Amino acid sequence: MPDDSRHGHAGHGHGAPHHGTGGHAAHEHGAGPPVMHHAPPADAAAAYSRAYEAARPAPGGRVVTVELEAHEMDWEFVAGRRTRAWGYNGRVPGPVLDANVGDVLEVRLTNSLPEATTIHWHGLRLPAPMDGTDMMQHPIPPGETFTYRFALLDAGTFWYHPHVNETVQLERGLYGALVVRGRNEPELDAERVLVLDDVALDRSGQVKPPGGWIEHHDGRQGSTLLVNGRAESELMIAAGQVERWRVVNAASARYVRLSIGGRPFTILGTDGGLIEAPVTVTEVLLATADRVDLAVGPFAEGERPDVESLAYDRRTVARAKRERFATLRVGPAAPSRAVIPRTLREIEPLVAGQVTPTREVHLGFKLSLKHGVDFVVNKEPHHRDHPVKVGELQVWDVVNDTMMDHPFHLHGFFFQVVEVNGEPPAFRSWEDTVNVPPKSRVRIAWMPDDRPGEWMYHCHILEHHESGMMGHFAVVR
Ligand code: C2O
Ligand code: CU
Ligand code: CU
Repeated sequence: MPDDSRHGHAGHGHGAPHHGTGGHAAHEHGAGPPVMHHAPPADAAAAYSRAYEAARPAPGGRVVTVELEAHEMDWEFVAGRRTRAWGYNGRVPGPVLDANVGDVLEVRLTNSLPEATTIHWHGLRLPAPMDGTDMMQHPIPPGETFTYRFALLDAGTFWYHPHVNETVQLERGLYGALVVRGRNEPELDAERVLVLDDVALDRSGQVKPPGGWIEHHDGRQGSTLLVNGRAESELMIAAGQVERWRVVNAASARYVRLSIGGRPFTILGTDGGLIEAPVTVTEVLLATADRVDLAVGPFAEGERPDVESLAYDRRTVARAKRERFATLRVGPAAPSRAVIPRTLREIEPLVAGQVTPTREVHLGFKLSLKHGVDFVVNKEPHHRDHPVKVGELQVWDVVNDTMMDHPFHLHGFFFQVVEVNGEPPAFRSWEDTVNVPPKSRVRIAWMPDDRPGEWMYHCHILEHHESGMMGHFAVVR
């Protein structure tokens, strides 16, 4: 398999702004994705226009214009085997979008799929009308175009994916990485983006339709492991060099306990960008939707460490085992100029000392006649949660009442993990997704800045999200 983890950057272009047709699209029922639990408010179109107009580059920034088309196509997840897949611009994952803090990203999405779709910009602090959920926009019907336009406020490794019929749309290949660069990033020898995923293929090499009680319970864990859309990848690195790896876990349900042949590597950043100081480890856990930025290397010529996931038991019905994503081949030596600074940035703690949580979010399940079990928040599917006021510090206890792990994702706002079962985390960071282990309590803190609208949080195991393990709330002034 070709090593394409270092190519495929798109974006970087100027262009006159397009106007979106969004907000005017008809509501799709019937042929499209299943049940709709959400609908945008009456003033969604006006809010969209305001957000569109307000997106201006910072001084020195520019408008990065990208055309994305979502469509059906043939893709070789496994070399030599054609699969009917869905992708952006003819590839899985979609192009790596690459821009700087202070730029405006303008993405014109054309939907050439047979069903409605949207794009959610996972992790970004953007205005609610650009968040890509069906709480804020009507899904884009087949044949139509919608323009997302927003300023990039934070450096980090983010990703994009549909927020409609996710168990089908993401599984077939609709997802991609978004890199936002800051001013003082560590200078390493090279950089690559690794988007990890798995896919469940049947005997004829086609993506299996969703279904079955194990999948409903565990979330889908496909047996074909992918790095940037390909199984059995080989990555090449020069001996003596240190690379920056931006890793995204785009899988529906799989947790990746990432190891590089047991060799030490260094964590530079997480969901919301750089951490305060580098941390050297031999493994790191990525729940679904998690990202991590690493410094990897140096290795000696001829080494062949596996990029793998060690066994991680998230208490599913199906068993967890150690599995390989790719092989890293170490080629001839090249000079290194990599410098990993001792301090990466400062992160002010949002809370200090004892605090009283402002709310509790209970992740649970409920027996259901139709599904056996439904996943819920505070005892109801698609929980309607209390509004949040701009400027009022939020301290939430996310409590997992079940016997399995759930990755909790908050849209649109970074949070800090204050403690997990009473213990502070190993280091301070900004996150948008955090694993909540079985029967555990994770305390998070976040500050709602002035971006009113309808927001949501949910379990990022796509099947749990679909079955209702999510909450909706308004941010109000
Ligand atoms: Cu990547 Cu609502 O999620
Ligand atoms: Cu919902
Ligand atoms: Cu879950």
